Amino acid sequence: MGLFTKRQKQPEPTFDVVPAHLGIIMDGNGRWAKKRGLPRQAGHVTGARVFRTIAKHCEKRGISTVTFYTFSTENWKRPPEEVEAIMNLLRQYLKESLEDFKKENIRTRFIGDRSVLAPDIQELMAEAEEATAHKTGMVLNLAINYGGRAELTTAMRRIAEEVREGALVPEAIDEDCITERLYTAGQPDVDMILRPSGEYRLSNFLIWQCAYAEYVFDEILWPDFTVKDLDRALEAYAGRHRRFGGV
Ligand code: IPE
Ligand code: IPE
Ligand code: MG
Repeated sequence: MGLFTKRQKQPEPTFDVVPAHLGIIMDGNGRWAKKRGLPRQAGHVTGARVFRTIAKHCEKRGISTVTFYTFSTENWKRPPEEVEAIMNLLRQYLKESLEDFKKENIRTRFIGDRSVLAPDIQELMAEAEEATAHKTGMVLNLAINYGGRAELTTAMRRIAEEVREGALVPEAIDEDCITERLYTAGQPDVDMILRPSGEYRLSNFLIWQCAYAEYVFDEILWPDFTVKDLDRALEAYAGRHRRFGGV
């Protein structure tokens, strides 16, 4: 840079095209901790902090629905101390956020089978949903004990029951009928999936809703993920040419 040339301020990128529904697979907490010689739980603590920052940034960028993969139906396979640490972080987040929920214009929802979670967590979830049910801003879904296959299985069972009760005829079962019986009923299809940590898979996340999603993968581990990384991912998405089977 010359002596007399002023440093040009980089213009803020514009985000005219953002996904209506963004799914984020928060991955890499354990490896992040391991690299630092810390227990895996320490990665989840930092990961939970990053989640708060990124959720706010999604709202700032005008994303109308964001779903964070927090705990999968397969994550019960982990050591009990790790599962307990994750559940404690969830508990802590819900308690701390109850005040914020009142101030913010975000609607918090939970997707997944919550019936097997600790009763106090279920209660906090219900409180969070109730406190934000009337909000008109971004929808924030937290996928907890969530699995795409479990979600579809539950929906199919419901449909079968409705048919048995005579409330539904098999001829009326179409794609909308299934979509309406998922946890995400009424929400837009997933436009973009973001997965950091260098893993290139969906891991049973929103499998029905992702049929035409754009995938953005990143090598960064979730606890290192920043708002700039999200902006980069959103720019990549904005540059995609989506065809949905057309031309
Ligand atoms: C994501 O990080 C958090 C959860 C799945 C709960 P991981 O714990 O999977 O971290 P890695 O993939 O082992 O590094
Ligand atoms: C997916 O990550 C689940 C969440 C981020 C909550 P995992 O770490 O469990 O996925 P795999 O085992 O690498 O596929
Ligand atoms: Mg992982």
